[in-house]
Amino acid sequence: MRTVDLIHKKRNGGELSNEEIGWLIEGYVQGTIPDYQISAWAMAIYFQGMSARETADLTLAMAASGDQVDLSPIPGIKVDKHSTGGVGDTTTLIVAPLVAAAGVPVAKMSGRGLGHTGGTVDKLEAIPGFQVERSTDQFLQQVRDIGIAVVGQSGNLTPADKKLYGLRDVTATVDSIPLIASSIMSKKIASGADRIVLDVKTGKGAFMKTLEDSVALAQAMVAIGTEVGRETVAVITNMDEPLGPSIGNALEVQEALDTLRGEGPAELTQLCLELAAHMVLLGGLAATYERALQQVTELLHSGAALAKFKQFIVAQEGDGAVADEPGRLPQAAYRVAVPAPQDGYIAAIDAESLGVTAMMLGAGRATKEDQIDLAVGLKLTKRVGDRVRAGEPLAELYTNRIDAEETDRIKERTVSAFGFSEQFVEPLKLMYAVVT
Ligand code: URA
Ligand code: CA
Repeated sequence: MRTVDLIHKKRNGGELSNEEIGWLIEGYVQGTIPDYQISAWAMAIYFQGMSARETADLTLAMAASGDQVDLSPIPGIKVDKHSTGGVGDTTTLIVAPLVAAAGVPVAKMSGRGLGHTGGTVDKLEAIPGFQVERSTDQFLQQVRDIGIAVVGQSGNLTPADKKLYGLRDVTATVDSIPLIASSIMSKKIASGADRIVLDVKTGKGAFMKTLEDSVALAQAMVAIGTEVGRETVAVITNMDEPLGPSIGNALEVQEALDTLRGEGPAELTQLCLELAAHMVLLGGLAATYERALQQVTELLHSGAALAKFKQFIVAQEGDGAVADEPGRLPQAAYRVAVPAPQDGYIAAIDAESLGVTAMMLGAGRATKEDQIDLAVGLKLTKRVGDRVRAGEPLAELYTNRIDAEETDRIKERTVSAFGFSEQFVEPLKLMYAVVT
């Protein structure tokens, strides 16, 4: 085989065989096929697309490029959840104990990642004492014992995706649906999930800005799942404003605890219950979606989900008392209110911009080496559709910075993420569609 022939074939709209795709990915990871040829191939895919079969083959080739987690020692159907992007996404912290309480085994290896706030693993580290490093045996044993473990990714998962994603980033080939879909699904498959629930965000703060593109991405991922025998369901949800009010690591842990206590923000609670219901249904633990939803709603209100979270924290050496006393989480030194500059209705909230603001306060990493300040971030006090008067707080900054000028700049940045209208504005829809 010659790489140039495969690029040529794809460029002209041909379909590559499973063998050809596997050969390209293997050569790329081993370094026998150079970046410039893979760049050209990715650009050809960008323009010509891929068939469902090619996309599934690429996904499996990338999943097989490194370690693959074997969850078969854990009895039951392992269902994983994944959100595509989004800002201040607290759902995993809520959904994981909720479905574990329902009997779905949660065996999650999570990355730290770059971005606005930390990944799930960083957020969990806001709990004093919490350990994210576990051997594979300990990890599997904990899931068998209590039904849930969330640990840092170890080993070498999907090196082909890592390399290809880095290359796409600098060759203008990130926003190709088959490439995004295979990238995301390869990681889920390598992590060992039998079935997958995807929360595909759409809107300003999301990877996919339009509903049409988001649905197309969801369909591509569901098709991969079907093709490779890992049933997948995707829920399309709104990112035209942040889902919950908190953006920041300890703040999001607190938000998760509030939600598990039944006192969380309404929209976040509703989406978590719906995602959890899809997981319980896929996990074979309910006959219908309505039953699954009823089941998880009861587990939330009975305190069973919160009790599961506490058990999980303690199993990973964290301070279980945070479940009842959130004041034990890291606290920022200062709280600064951000007042509204005018009267009106909130018409828009730019989630991505607020994510960057949280990162500027220290809640996220701009580079891999950055240290996260777990205590800081921001909390919104208004949602789209809310009425506001000039001087009323839009948000509160939680900060450890003492530089007043910098704080003023961050306040201005926060205000500029809000759009105002003199006319009444409808609250935004939370979910748009379910793709199965
Ligand atoms: N997230 C991923 O993991 N991969 C992509 O290609 C895009 C977003
Ligand atoms: Ca949040």
